[in-house]
Amino acid sequence: MAKSQTFQDLLIDTPCEGVLRITLNRPDARNALRTQLLGELRDVLMEAVTDESVRCAIITGGPKVFAAGADIREMADKTPVEAMTDSRQACWQVIQDFPKPLIAAVDGYCLGGGNELAMMCDVIVAGAGATFGQPEIKLGMIPGAGGTQRLTAAVGKARAMKAILTGEFMSAQEAFEAGLVSEVSENAQERALDLAKIIAAKSPIALRLAKEAVRRAAEGGLAGGFALERKSAALLFATEDRKEGISAFLEKREPKFKGR
Ligand code: CAA
Repeated sequence: MAKSQTFQDLLIDTPCEGVLRITLNRPDARNALRTQLLGELRDVLMEAVTDESVRCAIITGGPKVFAAGADIREMADKTPVEAMTDSRQACWQVIQDFPKPLIAAVDGYCLGGGNELAMMCDVIVAGAGATFGQPEIKLGMIPGAGGTQRLTAAVGKARAMKAILTGEFMSAQEAFEAGLVSEVSENAQERALDLAKIIAAKSPIALRLAKEAVRRAAEGGLAGGFALERKSAALLFATEDRKEGISAFLEKREPKFKGR
């Protein structure tokens, strides 16, 4: 059982009947989504698909960071082909296709791939101090796990463009008003658990079909955009600007982009 296994980057528990809680647990790297972490998430979710005792799952992080995005150190030397074909893509696919209700309980920073992970969940509960953003542009990159599409679908073109072109963050309240998060709570953990309990008591078959139908409404038209984004994100792995953006982040300085 995945639930009783020990993972390197995740904590797994069952806070109440029917609810699986997955806690991202790499605090020293601000829960950056390295391949190891995504692989563990894939394994847990794949097992939860067939585990009838799991009716609903919560994905959460720490009090200061949900997840700071893809692991910038791990990405530093990747080629465009590696970015297109590495195992991370298959992990994202398993998360997107998870058929049971997924709740993101978000405290602190929820950035880049972290925000993309939250947006793959069905309900997002944000702590009052949570902060959302797609800061890839500051690294000479763009979102690569659906962010350009899902954020635009959630908050509309005006707000999505502003967030993606500037890399500026949104507060929990702004994210709620824009339609990115389902609700803001003083205690996101408790509230997510309350919602998970309510959901877990419902018919699993009805939940599955409801999720599928709402996802179709929200994402049914996005397939072409996902493919374009993925190729464009991979293409940028060939640029000097991306190397400069990553070096600048790691050296804690401002990048100098040249358009090459
Ligand atoms: N990947 C790898 N390491 C990261 C990281 C990341 N995404 N985010 C933070 N870290 C590391 C830092 O390098 C630092 O390591 P050292 O202690 O060895 O220097 C450590 O975590 C602590 O980071 P900070 O000192 O920056 O912590 P902070 O609390 O002051 O700030 C933060 C937190 C605002 C989240 C800041 O760390 C930050 O801006 N992180 C990067 C966010 C980002 O650009 N995300 C996008 C990644 S690209 C992406 O996600 C692509 C995609 O679409 C799939």
